[in-house]
Amino acid sequence: MTSTKKVTNRRPKNNVGGLNFGPTSVAEFLAQFWQQKPLLLRRFVDPGSVNTGLESLLSFAQQDDISSRLIRVRKQDWSMQEGPFDALPSLRTKQWTILLQGMDRSLDQAYALRLAFGFLPHARIDDVMISVASAGGGVGAHLDEYDVFLVQGHGQRRWRWGYQSDHRFQTNKPLKLLERFEPQFEAVLEPGDCLYLPPRWAHEGVALSPCSTWSVGFRAPSRQEFLQYFLLEAAESVSGANPRYQDMRLAKTKQAGRIPIALAEQLKQWAMSFRSEQPLVEQALGRFLSEPAANAWFESPAKSLSKRQWLSKALAFGLALHPASRMVYDNKSVWLNGEILARPCPLLRQLADQRYIHANQLKKSLPENMTNALSNAPTKHFDPVTKRQDARECKKTVEFQPLFDSLFGCYQQGSIRFWSEKHS
Ligand code: SIN
Ligand code: CO
Repeated sequence: MTSTKKVTNRRPKNNVGGLNFGPTSVAEFLAQFWQQKPLLLRRFVDPGSVNTGLESLLSFAQQDDISSRLIRVRKQDWSMQEGPFDALPSLRTKQWTILLQGMDRSLDQAYALRLAFGFLPHARIDDVMISVASAGGGVGAHLDEYDVFLVQGHGQRRWRWGYQSDHRFQTNKPLKLLERFEPQFEAVLEPGDCLYLPPRWAHEGVALSPCSTWSVGFRAPSRQEFLQYFLLEAAESVSGANPRYQDMRLAKTKQAGRIPIALAEQLKQWAMSFRSEQPLVEQALGRFLSEPAANAWFESPAKSLSKRQWLSKALAFGLALHPASRMVYDNKSVWLNGEILARPCPLLRQLADQRYIHANQLKKSLPENMTNALSNAPTKHFDPVTKRQDARECKKTVEFQPLFDSLFGCYQQGSIRFWSEKHS
């Protein structure tokens, strides 16, 4: 086995959104490592940005909106229990770990870490999982189907990893543990360090002291996943006549168990002649990629606001997506949480890219008469004699109104909220 790989970041060349790629530029990382080979990144994040205390992380295991799993090992005897948990072992008891899924939806520091990965498409990011382990704790040697950045929060963890073609798993274990693990690399991660692993690299992390690991996990749909989603939608949206199989003048049979040839032919013909139209596929893929996590939930704001109150607050604070919201767009549509929201426009693209819109950005994109209506100021582009508005401003108003209505609707559902309330 190769000894611990040393990476020193004496002259950092690249820093994106607070992520320190050290001597490797982000462009180099994407060209040479992403989806290809692991990379150890010392001081990848400021340790202060992932320093939520272990006890307060553990308290999330009591919540039923957080999917949690407790894993224990004693002499190769593994056990796994699903949360929520009223009580957990003490961190002084060795060899256990708890995995807390989707923490970016519940913990500001985890959401901020996820936002730092804005140089990668949001459609590829899954969630931030946080594990808390007592000394000796871990989930055993395994491999994941997806890219992952394993960021060390508190304490130290020793990682071993390597590429192997033997992907057989042990049988009768509550976890998918590799039958044979042949690591080629090893390193002890300190707070702020990170190990990037591409899909299907074998790895094992063992806590050297009570510690937390923040895993920024990615997702990549498989053909089966997308087709399952799409074909279900397609079946519901097949329009026009809905012929049903008929067998008038049916002959008497002695083989009642046999599928009638005509019935089989009819079903085959329906299946083989089904061709989906491109717009249907495009709409389905946007819905699929913006579908929120299964246990994500949105709550309407406690205090309801009128449209006018909402707009004036939005102009003061800006708008932000709820951490659980997924928003994506292409050239024709914008989707939010599995629904088409509107046609793309600079404002919505900005919201989807940055996940927030600053109050000033919102002001700039709003038609003048709408902002002035709020402040009772005279509208510059309005001619009081002809009572007509400048044609460009008028067009802007007509275009903005439906967008404004849908954004307000999203606010009422809780998928969009005011920005500064959470982040400034
Ligand atoms: C852990 O945090 O213990 C497990 C993360 C992983 O191996 O993907
Ligand atoms: Co893993």
